[in-house]
Amino acid sequence: MRRIARRLYYFPVDLYESITGKREKLTPPRGRIFIGSGDFKSQGNRILKQMVELGGLKPDDRVLDVGCGIGRIAVPLTGFLSNKGSYEGFDIVKSGIRWCTKHISASFPNFRFKHIDLKNELYNLKTNQKAKDFVFPYPDQEFDFAFLISVFTHMMPEDVEAYLKQLNRVLKNGGTCFCTFFVMNKESKRLMNLIDGIRFDADFGNYYLHNTNVREANVAYEENYLKDLFKSSGFELTGMHYGYWSGRAKETAKDFQDVIVLKKKRAQKN
Ligand SMILES: C[S@@+](CC[C@H](N)C(=O)[O-])C[C@H]1O[C@@H](n2cnc3c(N)ncnc32)[C@H](O)[C@@H]1O
Repeated sequence: MRRIARRLYYFPVDLYESITGKREKLTPPRGRIFIGSGDFKSQGNRILKQMVELGGLKPDDRVLDVGCGIGRIAVPLTGFLSNKGSYEGFDIVKSGIRWCTKHISASFPNFRFKHIDLKNELYNLKTNQKAKDFVFPYPDQEFDFAFLISVFTHMMPEDVEAYLKQLNRVLKNGGTCFCTFFVMNKESKRLMNLIDGIRFDADFGNYYLHNTNVREANVAYEENYLKDLFKSSGFELTGMHYGYWSGRAKETAKDFQDVIVLKKKRAQKN
């Protein structure tokens, strides 16, 4: 329903932009962008820059975009990855994958997108398939770099745990997982109470919910739980860059959400 309402709301401006040619070829119509607010192009460019600067992404890398949405990061990657590099993305929302395949893969055949039908209380209620049971459709040790931007922030603990195991399996030894979270610790809890921002008042111990009616609307995780989980999933934590969601200074933060960089230590048995 939210997606239909959005398409109707933006219909006049989308029609205008498509008639006048004002929209760039690799920018989706506003009404189709279901991944949140903000400027599609500048946000994608900013995230790519972070992946290079903080995560060490290289043009020849084979990359995996988990929860690729409607191609916000795939689009700038088309200008970054070399012919030796390649891109795989998957998401649980079919319309985003359809748009990416039609507009990105058509011009960049080394960019491939897959739709995977999994349940999420915010994004996909049409199935009961669980993310925790999903086996990523890629061979072991396939990727140099995997990323999840604003995806773990919409997943429950058992699903995050299963995805980290899958990520460890499909990454090469020494490969990078670049991801964002809402990380809870003493400081974020203290700051969160001082500002009028996003709140996580429902405390479940290792995780916190913003909205108990739509659990996956926004999920935050206790920092120590995440650190233990990264370790037990076969990752070394090499970067933790706190965002400004909780009230930390915007000027010093890298982004709104907390950015985490992990390196694969060893192959993980499933
Ligand atoms: C806030 S959007 C971010 C999209 C994209 N990563 C970006 O930064 O533009 C969250 C995305 O996560 C996807 N998602 C949620 N649960 C998922 C799951 N279990 N597996 C893969 N994608 C998932 C949603 O469909 C949605 O596209």
